[in-house]
Amino acid sequence: MKKTLLITGGAGFIGSHVVRLFVNKYPDYKIVNLDALTYAGNLENLKDIEHAPNYEFVRADITEPATMNAVFEKYRPDGVIHLAAESHVDRSIADPNAFIQTNVMGTANLLNAARYLWKDNYEGKRFYHVSTDEVYGSLGETGFFLETTPYDPQSPYSASKAASDHLVRAYGNTYHLPFVLTNCSNNYGPNHFPEKLIPLFINNIRNNKPLPVYGDGKYTRDWLYVVDHARAIDMVFHNGKNGETYNIGGFNEWQNIELVKLLCKKMDEKLHREEGTSAHLITYIKDRPGHDRRYAIDANKIKNELGWEPSVTFEEGLDKTIDWYLANEEWLNHVTSGDYQKYYQEQYS
Ligand code: NAD
Ligand code: DAU
Repeated sequence: MKKTLLITGGAGFIGSHVVRLFVNKYPDYKIVNLDALTYAGNLENLKDIEHAPNYEFVRADITEPATMNAVFEKYRPDGVIHLAAESHVDRSIADPNAFIQTNVMGTANLLNAARYLWKDNYEGKRFYHVSTDEVYGSLGETGFFLETTPYDPQSPYSASKAASDHLVRAYGNTYHLPFVLTNCSNNYGPNHFPEKLIPLFINNIRNNKPLPVYGDGKYTRDWLYVVDHARAIDMVFHNGKNGETYNIGGFNEWQNIELVKLLCKKMDEKLHREEGTSAHLITYIKDRPGHDRRYAIDANKIKNELGWEPSVTFEEGLDKTIDWYLANEEWLNHVTSGDYQKYYQEQYS
């Protein structure tokens, strides 16, 4: 094998698309997927590649420093692509500690293990930290997040991600650890856990349940199809400059309520329901505390420097996503049984 890459969080939503892309595109890389399999991690996401000769899964928790050192010692990765995280804003409001442990301490453990293994001989080594646009805080009606926008995180989730970004840059500055970092906007697509807006609402429409829109519904997000994020990660990992940050976004802003109406229309068509049936499920509920009003990414740096841009339009991506959920009801039924019901009760009752 030419290289060994350790991908953390590879059983989650975005991580599973990244693992699949790397396993299929780089048969001469050994891909080690490290994941603790929390409620958000699911090996069913990787059924199609689980027996690939260049793939191995390791169940491990990034909050355990000794385990991380042992994993690095055993596999001796040349590169790390770090996606493992607690990722849901609402859960971070209910219980911030898990976010601080995993997102901050877990990232520190990986940085220490990489630094120790690579022992300051960084030739051919790279630590890629996958982060979010939420670290920049909230925009008003106009403007975009640039790579130079000052950090202003507003939720426990985004504060924990901001802390992890600072740690990565600090290790780059202090120990010259070679890193790249990306801040991406909202992803959507297959395998998205149905606690996030789009898959939650697809699942609720499927089950004729209310669609809980927070506040006035006029919050704005910039949506990107998950496979395009995985393509961007591939490009930045291979061609990004050491020490650089790249923003990744969909050039695709939607107010939540407009997005939900489009989703309802498409679901009615696909489920052969009378037009307007799903929209009747829209229910405005109490707002998310500290809810960021608007996110919008200026992704021109990655576009101009690395030639990346989204390949899938929003309409195409939404169609592919809905079709995937309707064809994978078993997956949805699995992930929405057990603990999910308890979470749903606590969050929405
Ligand atoms: P996800 O919640 O779907 O998956 C997270 C994965 O990390 C799961 O497989 C989980 O089992 C694993 N994990 C959690 N805690 C762990 C621990 N302590 N040790 C090992 N593994 C652990 O998340 P996602 O939406 O796929 O996000 C992946 C990354 O991308 C995160 O770092 C997130 O901050 C970032 N990101 C997400 C989005 C988005 O829209 N979803 C946008 C930008 C950036
Ligand atoms: O911007 C990138 C971030 O996008 C990632 O870093 C996070 O990991 C990811 O979860 C996502 O965060 P958001 O908070 O933007 O995503 P979520 O799907 O939870 O919410 C999208 C919008 O929809 C937001 O304005 C809140 C609203 N919403 C969400 C839920 C779950 C509702 O109105 N009702 C809901 O039930």
